[in-house]
Amino acid sequence: MTLSDHERHARSLLDESAWAYLFGAAGDELTLASNLRAWQEMTLLPRVLRPLAGGHTRVELLGRTLAHPILIAPMAYQRLAHPDGEHATALATAALGAGLVFSTQASAPLEEIASMFLREAGRGPLWFQLYLQHDRGFTQALVQRAEAAGYEALVLTVDAPVQGARDRERRSGFRLPQGVAAVNLDGLRAPAARPLTTGQSALFDDLLCHAPSWDHIAWLRSITRLPVLLKGILHPDDARQAVACGAAGVIVSNHGGRTLDTAVSTASALPAVVQAVQGAVPVLVDGGIRRGTDVLKAIGLGASAVLLGRPALHGLTNAGATGVAHVLRLLRDELEIAMALTGCRTLADAPDALATVHPRPRPPA
Ligand code: FNR
Ligand code: LAC
Repeated sequence: MTLSDHERHARSLLDESAWAYLFGAAGDELTLASNLRAWQEMTLLPRVLRPLAGGHTRVELLGRTLAHPILIAPMAYQRLAHPDGEHATALATAALGAGLVFSTQASAPLEEIASMFLREAGRGPLWFQLYLQHDRGFTQALVQRAEAAGYEALVLTVDAPVQGARDRERRSGFRLPQGVAAVNLDGLRAPAARPLTTGQSALFDDLLCHAPSWDHIAWLRSITRLPVLLKGILHPDDARQAVACGAAGVIVSNHGGRTLDTAVSTASALPAVVQAVQGAVPVLVDGGIRRGTDVLKAIGLGASAVLLGRPALHGLTNAGATGVAHVLRLLRDELEIAMALTGCRTLADAPDALATVHPRPRPPA
């Protein structure tokens, strides 16, 4: 009946270590919990007796009209959840008119997913999530593959220069099983380890020498004709800098609590980012979206769309493509009910549904 039913059922199907990787988070998992709580604690102030006939959930995003404002977040290694993995997610997402953000670390070839997804007439947008690799030539070739396959935007993830301290995952002894791998990174050689002298840090003096910086945004834009969105923005100044660097959009995200634990919840970070960006580019948000009312609140705060993470993988675990489709259908139905009960004929009315008045966001250009 609900996304949390899907979570409960999925738990009984997976072993502890796959569960820990897929559904765990960093540290004490406080940010994971506060993402959910922040949406739950925001209240709605419904309006009654407004005309609702002919209403709809459509939104505009990067020059396209979407049937509804839900995209599937980029998530690595979906074959851990179900043997059909990314193929099942793509099939369901296309059929339900949602957008798909495909992960660099997916366990299926990016070309196969694109050709499957793009075939569906009612599909949403298809975006490629990029992790900048230490080998820039490899990164460039990967971007070219994504372009050639028909991906319509790049989503550069900027909040994970290093993996978070995933304590639950480490405790479980998680390792990728045979047959599940980041197949789109085949041929990428590990960087030569730098010899460290006493007192040097493996993180600061080795790994982070390859980390992306603001300068790389210009480089990335110079090698692609695709719009580039930045995922993992929480601070309004970073959002401003993203716009100044030519980003086509920003995604307010804390990686679902999987990177920095005790980072602010995305619902609490969203309003300041929306204000900072001033409608120059669309702002999207993810983290803790579990109910149609959460989607309505996000749009009310000025998001153009939301990304759905773990619940899609719960559905995938439970029933492959059918499960993902069911999760998307539930969320969209809940959104329509929430709109009707708050007096929102369209999502342009969503700011009126919030109990706390925020400065009304300007719609993105
Ligand atoms: C992720 N996320 C993620 N993000 C990203 O940019 N690239 C990636 O490869 C992954 N991989 C990944 C794997 C798994 C198993 C999960 C659960 C998440 C983060 C994801 O895109 C998104 O930001 C959060 O999952 C959103 O939070 P919710 O909806 O899961 O609460
Ligand atoms: C994760 C990485 C792949 O969250 O982004 O597991």
